[in-house]
Amino acid sequence: MSERVTGVVTGAGSGLGREIALLAASAGRHVFVADRDLAGAEGTVRLIESTGGSAQAVIVDVTSEDSVAALFADVDRRGRGLAWAVNNAGIHPDDDRLADLDLAAFDRIMAVNARGVALCLKYEMRAMQSAGTAGRIVNIGSTRSFRAISGSAAYVASKFAVIGLTETAALEGGPYGIRVNCVCPGVMSTPMVRARREGSVESEAAYVDRVGGVLGRIGSPDEVAEAVEWLISDASSYVTGHTLVADGGYRIR
Ligand SMILES: NC(=O)c1ccc[n+]([C@@H]2O[C@H](COP(=O)([O-])OP(=O)(O)OC[C@H]3O[C@@H](n4cnc5c(N)ncnc54)[C@H](O)[C@@H]3O)[C@@H](O)[C@H]2O)c1
Repeated sequence: MSERVTGVVTGAGSGLGREIALLAASAGRHVFVADRDLAGAEGTVRLIESTGGSAQAVIVDVTSEDSVAALFADVDRRGRGLAWAVNNAGIHPDDDRLADLDLAAFDRIMAVNARGVALCLKYEMRAMQSAGTAGRIVNIGSTRSFRAISGSAAYVASKFAVIGLTETAALEGGPYGIRVNCVCPGVMSTPMVRARREGSVESEAAYVDRVGGVLGRIGSPDEVAEAVEWLISDASSYVTGHTLVADGGYRIR
């Protein structure tokens, strides 16, 4: 790669986003490491720079249009156009069964996981269309994008929405050469997952058996990063509107 092409990873201060940003930078790209947690984003940038990569930390709240607009204005000021983006920021706090639905909690989860992806897509598509870059966008879904689980109504609804947004963006981006795809991870060892396991009475073996897919293990964040990397690289040049499932075979069990 002759010049460092610029892109954005949201939620890159932790977990999967950090790993995606590290791999993208190691392929020679410049990464805007965007997160609402600036310290986390700066930690990712330090890791990238320690291996000779190029990145900058930016604070963003994907639920706020002003904040998202400011992020992409920053990218624009860098002057090379937006070549790729990964919409990864997400939350998975405790959720409710529908009979106990707490609308405020539902709105909070939808605001980050669905509305936040839509908002980022708005500014990414605008930037790529106006710069004439045949951009690549990857949205991060979940196995909850295609299989519901009881007691997680908001998270499931938000992640089903990510596939709908991906396919709509792919339809609208196609004429501009913009490819938009979705990666759906199974359970990966990240701070989000570890936080949800805290205090659980379920044994590790039973947990892995329940969520680990046919490969019988929890995934590692770099295994998701590899799938994302393929979709933002030229190697996937004829792939758009696709959902790539990286779940150790959970879907087919
Ligand atoms: N870890 C898994 O097993 C798993 C499985 C399927 C899908 N996912 C999805 O992968 C993505 C990343 O999850 P993770 O496990 O790495 O979680 P994580 O909690 O480790 O990281 C999420 C990051 O998003 C950031 N973030 C949250 N809200 C934000 C906001 N409003 N604006 C900007 N940044 C915000 C957080 O600060 C954090 O750095 C999420 O979309 C999640 O739903 C994770």
